[in-house]
Amino acid sequence: MTDFAVRTGDPAADADLLVACVFEGPEPGPHVSRGALEEYGAAGLTGRLHESLLVARPGASAELLVGLGPRSDLSPDVIRRVLGKTARSLLGREVVEVALPDSPTPASTIAASVEGCVLGAYAFERYRTQPSAEPRLRTIRLLVDRADPAGEETIRVARLSSEAACWARDLVNTPALDCTPEHLAQHAEGLASLGLDVEVWREDDLARERCAGILSVGRGSSDPPRLIIITYRGDEKHRSPSIALAGKGITFDAGGTSLKDAAEQEWMKADMAGGASVLATMRAIALLRPPIHVVAAIPAAENLTGPTATRPGDVVTLRSGLKCEIVNTDYEGRVVLADALDVLRERGPAVIVDAGTLTGAAMEALGRDMYAVIGNDQALVNDVLAAGEATGEFGWQLPMWRRYRTEVESRVADLKNMPGRWGGAITAALFLHEFVGDTPWAHLDICGPAWAEEPGDYWPAGGTGNPTRTLIRFVLDRVRGGPS
Ligand code: BES
Ligand code: ZN
Ligand code: MN
Repeated sequence: MTDFAVRTGDPAADADLLVACVFEGPEPGPHVSRGALEEYGAAGLTGRLHESLLVARPGASAELLVGLGPRSDLSPDVIRRVLGKTARSLLGREVVEVALPDSPTPASTIAASVEGCVLGAYAFERYRTQPSAEPRLRTIRLLVDRADPAGEETIRVARLSSEAACWARDLVNTPALDCTPEHLAQHAEGLASLGLDVEVWREDDLARERCAGILSVGRGSSDPPRLIIITYRGDEKHRSPSIALAGKGITFDAGGTSLKDAAEQEWMKADMAGGASVLATMRAIALLRPPIHVVAAIPAAENLTGPTATRPGDVVTLRSGLKCEIVNTDYEGRVVLADALDVLRERGPAVIVDAGTLTGAAMEALGRDMYAVIGNDQALVNDVLAAGEATGEFGWQLPMWRRYRTEVESRVADLKNMPGRWGGAITAALFLHEFVGDTPWAHLDICGPAWAEEPGDYWPAGGTGNPTRTLIRFVLDRVRGGPS
């Protein structure tokens, strides 16, 4: 495992590689050697984003010049993306130094560098008979021009959050054959050794607890559903949780009786991405030990078509007591989350945040790289958006417009799970809103960013871990008393 350190001064002779920055111009950042810059220019490069060149220097460590784009556009996200894109090529070296561009170096730049390196180096190779060679990379030293007393802590948080996101990626990338509801439950139970309190409700418990929503979605599969409840008590002062988190954990979404077509099913193993990121968040919290009380619930089920599967038209009495007509079994996310939100609400949290791959509509509105945030409390929505921006996992708010509430009214029951064609992300949120009571609540529809069809700057194709780092940051910001 690679170590990170922050240091001041000039590049050291023992490094195998110096990564140095070039702004558009080209205009050299700190520690760029004149010879390397000449070669960079001679190659026709001008410092545009991602324009990189490896320059060998006889008698000295090699220099990797990376283009950051215009100096005026520099942000932590630029650093994260540029280092993320080069991270895998660093793995073959033993000691790498990275000369960070601004002066003095803010903590957000140090964090973004660590995040880029950890997230960008990720690969999912569990299902290959010949995994790639073991990385040699022992140390990454971040060269800054002034020592930051909080540097060590910044590195620790950035590193644990990014590792948590990679842990979530592994779960999302694991095929549904292996990643069953019980598999998620066992991962959760594995977290008990970190000091978390982990409860798993199996079929009998779900029945006793009236979780008919979760049971109804799981009925078509021979791998039965679970509700995973995790509590972290880093704060004995508050009896009720300061934060409750919920994550949709559909381990495979075939659509149920209302079967999806083949192309739509291709990546439905990722329909537990919200649950994976909530699990990963709890793991990071257990390791970071912030003084706060957090509870999480992950409803896990497989939405298949077995002979006992729920039929369109069936009516289910959800845990809250509301009766829901299942018009279409492919709108299952809101049905399992309804029970989970009810369990959380009952525990009296100050706020609830949930995340799930709920609607293609969110992706149609905001594209692949942004999640939708919808909630009943503007201050809470703002905090979630700020946490997303700080981590490079961007969200955008959609309105929870009460007038659309009629879309989830049923002719035969209290609610129906399938609204009309338009405004799907909003009507999904209006459905969930029925189960949070008066609790301030924000819902993240992560269909777009949770899964990448193509590689991005710091993720390969597949699960991205989004929004794990948003959630961790959100929790840590609450401890500090607001986003910083
Ligand atoms: N898991 C899907 C949402 C989804 C869609 C995730 C595309 C990833 C990519 C959810 O349960 C669902 O099926 N939503 C449907 C509803 C309906 C049209 C069948 C949707 O929003 O497309
Ligand atoms: Zn789904
Ligand atoms: Mn579905």
